[in-house]
Order: sequence, then C-alpha cells, then structure tokens
Amino acid sequence: MLSHIQDLAAKLAPRLLEIRRHIHSHPELSGQEYQTAAYVAGVLSSSGIHVKEGIGKTGVIGELASSGEDQRILAIRTDMDALPIQERTGLDFASKETGIMHACGHDVHTTVGLGTAMVLSRLSEALPGKVRFLFQPAEEIAQGANWMVQDGAMEDVSAILGVHVFPSIPGGCVGLRYGALTAAADDLEITIIGESGHGARPHEAIDAIWIASQVITTLQQAISRTQNPLRPVVLSIGQINGGRAPNIIADKVSLRGTVRSLHPQSRANLPEWIENIVTSVCSAYGAKCQVDYRQGVPSVQNDYALTQLLQSSAEEAWGSDCVQILPEPSLGAEDFSVYLDHAPGSMFRLGVGFPERGNNHPLHHPQFEVNEAAIITGVVTMAYAGYKYWQV
Ligand code: NI
Repeated sequence: MLSHIQDLAAKLAPRLLEIRRHIHSHPELSGQEYQTAAYVAGVLSSSGIHVKEGIGKTGVIGELASSGEDQRILAIRTDMDALPIQERTGLDFASKETGIMHACGHDVHTTVGLGTAMVLSRLSEALPGKVRFLFQPAEEIAQGANWMVQDGAMEDVSAILGVHVFPSIPGGCVGLRYGALTAAADDLEITIIGESGHGARPHEAIDAIWIASQVITTLQQAISRTQNPLRPVVLSIGQINGGRAPNIIADKVSLRGTVRSLHPQSRANLPEWIENIVTSVCSAYGAKCQVDYRQGVPSVQNDYALTQLLQSSAEEAWGSDCVQILPEPSLGAEDFSVYLDHAPGSMFRLGVGFPERGNNHPLHHPQFEVNEAAIITGVVTMAYAGYKYWQV
C-alpha cells in the first residue's frame, strides 16, 4: 500500500505544486478566507469528495464516504489563513495581495490536506470508516478551531491528525513529539488605579507607573521562586499605557501581556496566583487594581498511539534518518489543541528548510520560504497514516 500511495502522490505532484503556488499568490487574512475556501471546495468536489462549505464561518469540510462497517471517523485538519505581512521573497509566485502573505506555511498545509484527500479518495475501498478533512479558517487569531467545533466539525470524530511546517527541519523530513508540542497561550490585562499629583510631591499621590513597575518585577521574580522550573511558565508584558505629562504623577496604568505554559495543572493555578501577587503589591502601596485573565488556547498534547502511528508511517516512507523525535516543545501556540478536547490527536512538524542555505528565515518572516519537496512528504505521510489508522 505504501508504494501505491507514493505512486499516486508522485503522479499528483505537478498538480499539487500548482495548487500550492496558486494559494500562495492569493493569501487571505483570518476570517476572510472566501476565495481560498471556494478554491478548496472546488478541488475536493472534483475528486468526488462530499463538501460542506461555510463551516466555522469560512471553513470547509470534505467527507470521504466509506462502504465499510467501522463507525469511527478519522479527521485530518489543515488551516488556510495568511498573515498581515508584506512578502519580500521575490518569488515569481509571490503574494499578489499587498500586505498579506502566507508566511506561516498554511498554503502548504492546505495543499497537504487536499493532496491527502485526493490520494485517499482513490483508496476509499481500502478504508473501513470515514475520513473527514477539516480546512479551518482563522488559526492565526486562535479562533478558527472553536468556530469549526461549534459548527459540529468534531461530531463522531474518533481521532484527529494535523501538520505544521517547520523551517529548521530539512525539507522532506518530519519531526514528531510525544506529549506537549505547543504551549497554552492566555491573555492578561491588568489595570492599576492610583492617585494623580504633582511630580514634585510624590508623597501626596499614589504613583501608578511606579507601582506598575513593581508589579512587573515582582511577577517575573515570583515565577522563578514559586513555579516549578520543570513546568515552564513565561509571562511577557507587551503593552504598557499610562500617564499624561512628565510632571504629573499618573493615576492609571494598564498592562497587557501573554502567559504561556505547558502543563495543564500549572495553567489552572495561574489566574489566582497572578491576581494574588498583583493585588498584594498594589494594596501595599495604596493602589487599586483589576486583573483580567482570559484563557486562550490550551497546550497541544499529542496522543501517544497516534504519534506512534505518524512515526511508523513516516519512518516506513522516508527512513528513520529523516524522522526526528523533537527534544523540546515550543512555547508558541496552535489552536489544534481545541480539537483535542473532543478526540485524541497528534500534529507532526513538516520540514520545509533548505539545508544548503544554513540559516532559514523563520515563520512569520517576510522572506520565509518553503522547500516544496515537503509537499509530497506531507501528503504521503498523512495519507499513509490515514490508511494505517484502520489497520490497528
Ligand atoms: Ni501557523
């Protein structure tokens, strides 16, 4: 079966390259993937796959029917949105949209999803259950997976597989991780209310700017003394606003930041822990405060058996030299985790690096480029795993 899948993918290679370059030239921002969705729906329909549009606002579902008895549904998820970045690769199929670029490889993910659908549609006799292809919108704003789930994308799904490109792995190779792959990403907003006064007479005021600096310093120090260092927590304040003039003590400061964590238990304790520290520092200096901790996406925790499925599929197809077990997770976030609340799953990293170039531009860089050899690697790995899923 593997060599049959490899032959099918090789025959599809020119078409897949065309698809990837078309999507790359026509990027759309999160939640506005209208043309991409219509294009995806067209490709799926022409492969005889049942299509549902408008799932999760601008998402698409393709469902490959099965004549078999197995009631399980395997989901394969890819994402379609681009970023507000002006492309500077100079490629002849570069973005035709000013200020919008596929700089996170979602064009490749969509192509891998379509290629896998095309390959598996030709093997449907060998599949005892259904395969559901999720083409989700708005991953970059961490909303799309929620929208898809709300529209029933995970109903009756028994397992889900996903893929993300990775420029530090050579094109054509694959990275896998058991357990945590990405971090939970939560939003933090703190408002500190002091009392205004003359800059020359601080003792008659409550200086919200100085108290804000104490809050930030205390939070950073407290992480190192109170959080388990083997369960990383990163708190970054990226925005600070307050004050009106150099000689007026500020009565109000707002801070906004992101909180990243890998371990679900550490994450559960963070809102109360942060609120206690901020409230204690503020009250020590006579200020009032408000702490808003908003949960974003959870950490992607790859399922053991499904990661094994991906590993054995990739190793059989590409040899174990080309399959890396990643030693470290990332503190980036990925809303694939939202699906994992509904079924076990695993996401693999698809190498898109050019080893001969040494340093490859990172994701979200205006010169980020993809080694297109990765497309076939992604399709064969996913399609073969999609076949082997039913064999165990
Ligand atoms: Ni991405």
